[in-house]
Amino acid sequence: MTKRKRRGDRVTGSPRSSPATSQLTLPRPAAVTPRTGAVKPGLVSLRRTVPDTIAKPPYAATGQPPTTRGPNVQTADVIARMRVAGTLAAEVLLEVGAAVAAGVTTDELDAITHDATLARDCYPSPLNYRGFPKSVCTSVNEVICHGIPDSRPLAVGDIVNVDVTVFHDGVHGDTNCTFLVGDVDPESRRLVLETRTAMYRGIEAVKPGGHVYDIGRAIEEHAMAHDLGVVREFIGHGIGEQFHGGLQILHYFDTRADTVLEVGMTFTIEPMITLGSPDLRIWDDDWTAVTRDGSRCAQFEHTLVVTERGVEILTVTADGRCAADQYAAG
Ligand code: MF3
Ligand code: CO
Ligand code: CO
Repeated sequence: MTKRKRRGDRVTGSPRSSPATSQLTLPRPAAVTPRTGAVKPGLVSLRRTVPDTIAKPPYAATGQPPTTRGPNVQTADVIARMRVAGTLAAEVLLEVGAAVAAGVTTDELDAITHDATLARDCYPSPLNYRGFPKSVCTSVNEVICHGIPDSRPLAVGDIVNVDVTVFHDGVHGDTNCTFLVGDVDPESRRLVLETRTAMYRGIEAVKPGGHVYDIGRAIEEHAMAHDLGVVREFIGHGIGEQFHGGLQILHYFDTRADTVLEVGMTFTIEPMITLGSPDLRIWDDDWTAVTRDGSRCAQFEHTLVVTERGVEILTVTADGRCAADQYAAG
């Protein structure tokens, strides 16, 4: 638990002079302060369909991904295809981000993701992955990850992570961004901004000859410096022809994560950072991970390839844009 002050404490000592003065000094209305632990499951709509013209990953029919995890270092051909898939994933995430607004349900975000993905000749990778029922993960406020899109309308003051993965030409591109819904309280804005920075610190730590633990160290140091928590149960992953490959990318420092980074390795960096304790529990739907203390969580994700010069971000548009830079750069 943190020793964070409750925002309401600020009321104490506010001068009660003229209305003009109190407008400047009173705290923000209660509607924009974070109310912890308030997200409830909603209704999940019927399964969306994918036309036969779209090439599907093997698990689309069975729900079971293959047990083989694929290589850590990819061929030039796989990397070239991942560059395309990454670009398409970035485009989809930008399109969904443009639709985030108060009153929009997370199911509507799922429909937009689904349609934008099919329109790019891609399969929405989450759909039926280990039985996941929807085409995107939408994680609101204290939801850490793997939120199932449902009938809950977004409200002013919410933060919502949208995690898009597309499968195109035999490979996956995986990227996410936490979006602000209207006027969001300063603590939550700080959380989102510093989580984005933590992801980029992790990305900057990637270089051939370095170690996987350099990534976690950079992320954890940034989180600690800002009195934020790092979720340990969910990690970045190898990616390529498999959605989740063999590489494990911890977002905290652990000397056991001593795999040497090599040119051609492809993986995600996707830290989940909390305002309070990073301890979690899973809802009865067996997917939705939430903080135990109800404190808010933010996340950002890119898919990367290790290069001779350091690292290339694959989940950006052809002209180098991404949702994290366009919507969450402060
Ligand atoms: N996109 C998530 C990740 O970053 C995985 C979602 S798996 C799902 O690894 F089944 F929930 F979609
Ligand atoms: Co991922
Ligand atoms: Co993802």
